[in-house]
Amino acid sequence: SIDFASLTRQTGHTALDYGFVNTAATKSAITYIDGDKGILRYRGYPIEQLAKNSTYLEVAWLLIYGELPTADELAEFDNKIRRHTLLHEDLKRFFPALPHTAHPMSVLSAATAALSTYYENESDPNNPEHVELNTIRMIAKLPVIAAYAHKKSVGQAFLYPDNSLGFVDNFLKLNFGVLSEVYEVNPVMSRALERLLILHEDHEQNASTSTVRLVGSTGANQFSSISAGINALYGPLHGGANEAVLDMLGRIRDSGESVQRFVERVKNKEDGVKLMGFGHRVYKNYDPRAKLVKESADEVLEALGVSDPLLDLAKELEEIALNDDYFRERRLYPNVDFYTGVIYKAMGFPTRMFTVLFAIGRLPGWLAQWREATRDPQTKIGRPQQLYIGAGERNYPGQG
Ligand code: ACO
Repeated sequence: SIDFASLTRQTGHTALDYGFVNTAATKSAITYIDGDKGILRYRGYPIEQLAKNSTYLEVAWLLIYGELPTADELAEFDNKIRRHTLLHEDLKRFFPALPHTAHPMSVLSAATAALSTYYENESDPNNPEHVELNTIRMIAKLPVIAAYAHKKSVGQAFLYPDNSLGFVDNFLKLNFGVLSEVYEVNPVMSRALERLLILHEDHEQNASTSTVRLVGSTGANQFSSISAGINALYGPLHGGANEAVLDMLGRIRDSGESVQRFVERVKNKEDGVKLMGFGHRVYKNYDPRAKLVKESADEVLEALGVSDPLLDLAKELEEIALNDDYFRERRLYPNVDFYTGVIYKAMGFPTRMFTVLFAIGRLPGWLAQWREATRDPQTKIGRPQQLYIGAGERNYPGQG
């Protein structure tokens, strides 16, 4: 067995911190979290107030530029984004090259990386005009790519963006509109989706944001950095949890296993089974985003005229877990992903689109964090140390 404490001493100042549980990699002025009290603020504004009163683009501006926009600034931002939604027609030919079974998260990350090939001469991370332009391009075009990934997975034709519509309505139409049919946006669905996107816009140094900052620290452009962030988000312990929650609920329902029995299996760590959508590295109290999502789940499903037994199952699961010592002692509460899937499903999104929706939500945060990192004169290339535990020097056969 390895004496890590002694290894750490031998190497002087190197600290071994698996998962960076105690190590801050940066200073940041964007998002504040108090995990014990369940507080989340963007640029000082409580998440509850932003979710209630703001729009996705307004919060995007806040995160990126540090202050709430004036009405004129917001109108100009919105207008610029509407004018940049079109994808190059050649890029649209990228989609048929992928299998229709492709996971939309893989499609999104690959197409985001591919997007950079169209702007190679305008992607200098040190050129403020390029950075502004690509910030707009990504907020405008990634939702279109996301919707095309969805359309491809269900075998439907791609629609052109409708720039008479606002950000969320346009996104809904691109996902659910059908060629030659008029698409009426449901205002309840639109507001509910906007709220969910706002709740996801930033979350300080989580795995995908840290990835964006790390890749950015090498001098890579915004497209490459964000594409890397999308890949980090894909994992089931991070953004992929929203898809995993729905899969878990579906499996419990289909197996006929009681919720209590499932919870016992989680506690016994049978086959590594976890209660997906529960637990958080930072929140050791109820995730404030989960509280808001749970509140709106009933409301949205009712307004959309959908009743889903999986929502009842999720509530039963939460109730049992919150009253169980295993979860209490470990301070495991529902995180943002526990209830979002039920709402996305009620809206008509296939399960495999859930993490893509998270990515569209998180995009402004990634862009803001990339900008903060690349402008901080103290930023250095991210390069963790290691404690070497392998073989000592030895000779290749026949040598020495
Ligand atoms: N179900 C059952 N047990 C859990 C869960 C869970 N969801 N989460 C943590 N635990 C247990 C661990 O097994 C461990 O128990 P032990 O002390 O007996 O070994 C203890 O709680 C501490 O857990 P860690 O894994 O050390 O906590 P960590 O901070 O490293 O992980 C994480 C946080 C990854 C979110 C974890 O709670 C998890 O895997 N949750 C399920 C996946 C999920 O919902 N991810 C979304 C996170 S939010 C987001 O990215 C948007």
